[in-house]
Order: sequence, then C-alpha cells, then structure tokens
Amino acid sequence: MSTPHGTGDSRGEARQEAAQRHLQATAHRHLWLHFTRMSSYAEANMPVIVRGSGQYVYDERGKRYLDGLSGLFVSQVGHGRAELAEAGARQASELAYFPLWSYAHPRAIELAERLAALAPGQLNRVFFTTSGSEAVESAWKLAKQYFKRIGQPGRYKVISREIAYHGTSMGALAITGLPGIKEPFEPMTPGGVRVPNTNFYRAPHFVAGDLEAFGRWAADEIERAIEREGPESVAAVFLEPVQNSGGCFPPPPGYFPRVREICDRYGVLLVSDEVICAFGRLGYYFGSQRYGYQPDIITFAKGVTSGYSPLGGMMVSDALMEPFGSGRADISGFESPRHVGHAEGPGSGGTATFLHGVTFAGHPVSCAVALANLDVFEKEDLLGNVRSHEAAFRATLEKLSDLPIVGDIRGDGYFYGIELVKDKATRETFTDEESERLLRGFLSPALYDAGLICRADDRGDPVIQLSPPLTCTQEHFDEMEQILRSVLTEAWSQL
Ligand SMILES: Cc1ncc(COP(=O)(O)O)c(C=O)c1O
Repeated sequence: MSTPHGTGDSRGEARQEAAQRHLQATAHRHLWLHFTRMSSYAEANMPVIVRGSGQYVYDERGKRYLDGLSGLFVSQVGHGRAELAEAGARQASELAYFPLWSYAHPRAIELAERLAALAPGQLNRVFFTTSGSEAVESAWKLAKQYFKRIGQPGRYKVISREIAYHGTSMGALAITGLPGIKEPFEPMTPGGVRVPNTNFYRAPHFVAGDLEAFGRWAADEIERAIEREGPESVAAVFLEPVQNSGGCFPPPPGYFPRVREICDRYGVLLVSDEVICAFGRLGYYFGSQRYGYQPDIITFAKGVTSGYSPLGGMMVSDALMEPFGSGRADISGFESPRHVGHAEGPGSGGTATFLHGVTFAGHPVSCAVALANLDVFEKEDLLGNVRSHEAAFRATLEKLSDLPIVGDIRGDGYFYGIELVKDKATRETFTDEESERLLRGFLSPALYDAGLICRADDRGDPVIQLSPPLTCTQEHFDEMEQILRSVLTEAWSQL
C-alpha cells in the first residue's frame, strides 16, 4: 500500500516482509509441531498466529480468523483479556513459583476451594497437574494406589471407549482408543480395555433408530467388559461427557445413570474426563452436571485458565482420599507446619502418600489466572450465554444439512462435530485415500484460507469440529456457517 509520501511505508512493508521470511525460515529450521506431518511444510509456509482479540486471532500478516476451535478447546473467555494477563503478572511478582510438594501457596488453596464449591457432590479434593494428559495419568495412578490401599491390589485395568482421546503420555495413551496413534509406541502400558462409544449415527443395526436402546446397549457393553476381564481386575472406567474424538458423541438419555449403576455394582471408579467438557463448554462448570451423573474423579485442564497459562488437575471424592488420610485439620488447633520432607509431606495426617507429583503442577501464576478466569465466567455469566445461545448455534449449523456432503451434525453446548459422507442416503464414508485428499489436501487449508479456525479430523470417520469461545453469539455462528457452506460446497465439487 503506498502513501502520499511514498517511501516511508514501503520501506516499512519491506522490513515486515523480511521479518516474516526470517520467522518462517527459523520455524522451518528449528520448530517441531505436534501431531504434524512436518514434510507438508517443506514447500509451504507454516501458519503463524501472532495475536488474539475476543473471538478472533490474527496471523503475522494481520489477517483475521474466527477462532472456531478456541485454539484447541481452550480459550473459553476468548483472546486478549487484560485482566487474566494482569492476574498472572501480579502473581509472578509476588511469588512466581513454589512447588506443591510438601508446601501450599495461597492461589492453589483458593482455587481448590473454589473448584470444590463448583464441582458436583463430594469432589472436594483437588490434585493439580499442568495438563490433561497428566490429569488422566494421575487419575489412573490414584485408582491403582487407592485399590492397593484398600486391599484390592488386583484392580489395575481401565475401560474406555473406541476412538476416544485421553492424552499422549504412556498411561493416558493406553487409555486412548485410537490405534493409529498408539502403534508406534507399542507395547502399551498393560490394562487398557475398549468398549463401544456412543456414535448413534453409526449404531449397530439391532439398535439403530432407537436412541435409548442404543444407549442401554452401549452402557451394558461396559458391564460385559468388566465381566469378561474379571471384576476384581478392573479399577476404573474413563469416559468424556461428550466424546470429542470421532466428532462429538453426546451420551444417549439414560447412558450415564446406567454406567454409574454398573460401576457401583462392581466397585469400579467412574472417571469423567472433562479436559474439554468442563468450564462452560456444555453450559455448565462440569459436563457431568449437564447429564446429571456423579463421577468419583473428574479430570480437567484446558478451559480452567482459558489458556492464559497452563494448568490441569483432578478432583476426587472425600471417599477416595480417605485411605491416604483425610488431611483435614481442626483449624482452631492448627499451629505451625511440620516439615517431614518431600517423600512423605508435612500434612500426611494419615498413613500413606500418593506417590506422584510434577514440578509445575498448580503453578502459582496458573492458579492466579484460573481464579481471574472464573471471575470472568461469573461477571459475564458465560454459562448463561452458552445456555441461551446453544439452540441458535445448533440451528445455524443444521442449515448445512442441505449440503450433500454433510451426513450428521451432533453435539451439545458450544461443542459440535459435522460428519462428512460420500453418500448421504447410505451414510457411506470416504476411503482412506479420499479422506486424505479431502481433509488434508483440501479442507484444512481451504477453511484456514477462508478465515475459520476449526478442525478437519479423520481419526474416526471424517468430521469437522467446532468449539468456539463461550462469548460467541449469532453473528459468529453465521460466520462459521457461511464459511463452512462455501468451503464444503467447493469440496463436494472437487470429489
Ligand atoms: C478428553 C481429553 N483428555 C485428555 C487430553 C490431553 O490433554 P493435554 O493435551 O492437555 O495433555 C485431551 C486433549 O485434548 C482430551 O481432549
């Protein structure tokens, strides 16, 4: 763009161009992106996102994108919130770091109390981590050690659903139900057992068309798995409220009550993996609250800080803590702390230690940010925003049903998957080669070029996933629908 004075701006533009080229060259030389076929960038620029504001992010050229995925199911309150950044900065000046090994710090205490007040039932105890994988890993380790402590040492197996993603560390990977991302790391940690998920669109013929019967069957498959494996060997069932991977499978009515019943009957722990589904994604602080079930453990991460600093954790019931000693104290009689060293910890009022921890878990800056994040939830009634707009979000996405490539639109709250099919009438899906060409070759770059961040995923059947910031309203739903309509129409014409 030229200016009346000519050279000033063009010199600026040249400098900017050079800086962008340098950034790309450096990224190509030194950066390794996660779950990314790096060779696909051999001849192409990597997308570089440099800033965010509200529901939008901007690349290094200043182009704007609607963040239809909240980064990676993370940015609940949206981007560019000064109050969250300032909360982190204040905490870093006061106490940047101290571990939760033997010590506590005020922000972790305050956040634990606040989360306990928001969580369902007796989930009063928070064990912080830095990520979702660590939260899942921690929940499995706790389940194993818990059963050893109560005299049932044979319980170590975990049941989870096909295609479900629960993280990438070796324990979490063993719980994950995606064979493709496990194969390079075999042999797996022993104990992972798979059951069917709640993909009603692909329900087996004997329950197709009857959602409740399908839900009962899918839940009963958990009981059959427990029986098959031997109930005395099963520690926990890990389920997301809405399964993400595969493209948003909500639970059929009656599914979770039945699962709860089964877990109770066999003495198996029910872990609700809410790394995505907590903190407003489904219009509630926790996804289990939306569907009315009581987990023994909730794992969380992502939205707890809206991504302004990393944090994860698990919330556990008082009953689960009991074999480790409650840690509760009569406040009035509490004097100076006793230091017993890291291995045992000063507060080990009971007789055992949960032998697990990570250096940055419950980082003071992240806890301060999480508290500020929850303040925004309250001040702006974000749960209310999701609940009052979710029907409009669904209705806007459902307009896409007239496209021949759109097979199914499913989800709840601000969390949707759109399954793409080759033949709508028969629900025939794409071959691996078509899916590769369609998703990687066309849809992902085309949606990005059209200004929408979302996810074209073929870990199950091909789907497009949407999970926008909780502040979105009709104008954003319309923008998503319009971009998807135009790109999906083009995709169909290329098939
Ligand atoms: C349900 C679920 N569990 C666990 C994880 C792993 O979380 P992280 O990537 O923070 O390790 C994810 C990540 O997307 C997830 O969706």
